[in-house]
Amino acid sequence: MLIIADPAAAAQITIQNSLEKHHNTREFVYPLLGEKNLVTLEGKEWKMWRGIFNPGFASGHLMSLVGSMVSDTVRFTGILSGYAAKEKVFELEEAVTRLTVDIIGNVVLDMSLEAQTSENELVKAFRDQLQWMPLPNDINLFRKYNPMKWFVYRANTRIMNRYLDKLLEQRFAHRQQEEKVNSKRNKPVIDLALDTYLKETGQSGGSALPWQFKRSAIDHFKTFLFAGHDTTSSTACFVVHLLSKHPEALEKVRQEHDEVYGSDTSKTAEAIANDPHSLNRLPYTLAVLKEVLRLFPPASTVREGDPNTPILFNGKEYPTDGFMLWPVAYGMHRQPDLWPNAEEFIPERFLVKEGDPLFPPKGAWRPFEYGPRNCVGQELAYIELKIFMVLTLRDFDIRAAYEEQDKIDGKDRSTHTTKGDRAYQVLVATAKPVLGYPSKVTKRKRQ
Ligand code: HEM
Repeated sequence: MLIIADPAAAAQITIQNSLEKHHNTREFVYPLLGEKNLVTLEGKEWKMWRGIFNPGFASGHLMSLVGSMVSDTVRFTGILSGYAAKEKVFELEEAVTRLTVDIIGNVVLDMSLEAQTSENELVKAFRDQLQWMPLPNDINLFRKYNPMKWFVYRANTRIMNRYLDKLLEQRFAHRQQEEKVNSKRNKPVIDLALDTYLKETGQSGGSALPWQFKRSAIDHFKTFLFAGHDTTSSTACFVVHLLSKHPEALEKVRQEHDEVYGSDTSKTAEAIANDPHSLNRLPYTLAVLKEVLRLFPPASTVREGDPNTPILFNGKEYPTDGFMLWPVAYGMHRQPDLWPNAEEFIPERFLVKEGDPLFPPKGAWRPFEYGPRNCVGQELAYIELKIFMVLTLRDFDIRAAYEEQDKIDGKDRSTHTTKGDRAYQVLVATAKPVLGYPSKVTKRKRQ
């Protein structure tokens, strides 16, 4: 493995040449997402599908979905209130994951998966599959070598594919009629896929969809469901964590939200839904998000070395053939020669003008990666995280409860820290807060 911690070197394999994803990525994600997933597809097939789905994640389209994201987040705040009333330790990561699943369900499938309030069979199979995913550095030998996992993969895949297949067929059957009623509406991802099929075959709906098309579409839906919930939910946990450790920054965030939405928080949900673009008037909130993603990036890319693509670094050429190339965001984001006070939480880095010593160096901040294979969902992630922040931070105080969790489990984990912090990242498909971020929440009394 070649670990790349220099922005210009990283650009050579992601922007100047966008090298293929490393073959290990395929082995890792196939059981969960299938072979036609957008993360590991390559070449023309990837380009075609990426082009098809881009409009489904464009800012203008996402703004039209803010109302439903707000409703899902209001449901989440109701759940938080329940935890506050019970004064119970709960896993924040699990609760936010259910919220982000509901949101991505609406964006991709145009339906609520009701993950926050019920056990949907798709979500259940999906989450179970994640538990069985191999980890590159797995020390759990039971999980790594247990032959049962292949049966579990197959059973869960069958449930997920059947669910999505049915949905696709239903959507297709109702399509002609719907199109006439509302042909100019913004298209959710599921309709973008159907449009493509209809355009390519010249059909106008009606007859059954061929298996080949459904296989691709279903794998893409699973990819969006996976990529669209995990990373965002772990980022939300680290937003809460870093702000609880930096009360001065939390105060500034709350002030900004008061300024934009007024201090009566009972009216905020309606205000966002009526004016989704108000989310673009939260510069400090955005700076906090970027700083959280600097310190705790949940994902990164690994690329396949190539005989014709050496990396030029400090005037020397390094061959890449046979290497797994890892432009490691976490390392680059904390490098002291790139970032002044690299280990400190300073959202102002993302507010200062170019020329200021705090100004981020070019290409050194890469939580969503750069180049053609960058994250298609970054705009969606920002929107949902801002809504999460605006609707929770002024009404609740949330803090980590690792000591309480230790007592509940009867375990002393006080030495389990990284850089002195109990809330470090562990790799569970993506990088997540350890133990699901056990938390305690209280309702705020405002003067
Ligand atoms: C804070 C949130 C997020 C972070 C930090 C993040 C990060 C990333 C990174 C680093 C990649 C590149 C992976 C690689 O090259 O192997 C990526 C790709 C991708 N992300 Fe995200 N992501 C986030 C949220 C989302 C959301 C909400 C979606 C919703 C659909 C999404 C969908 C995808 C997809 C489909 C790809 C593959 C794109 C392609 O290869 O064309 N991500 N993301």
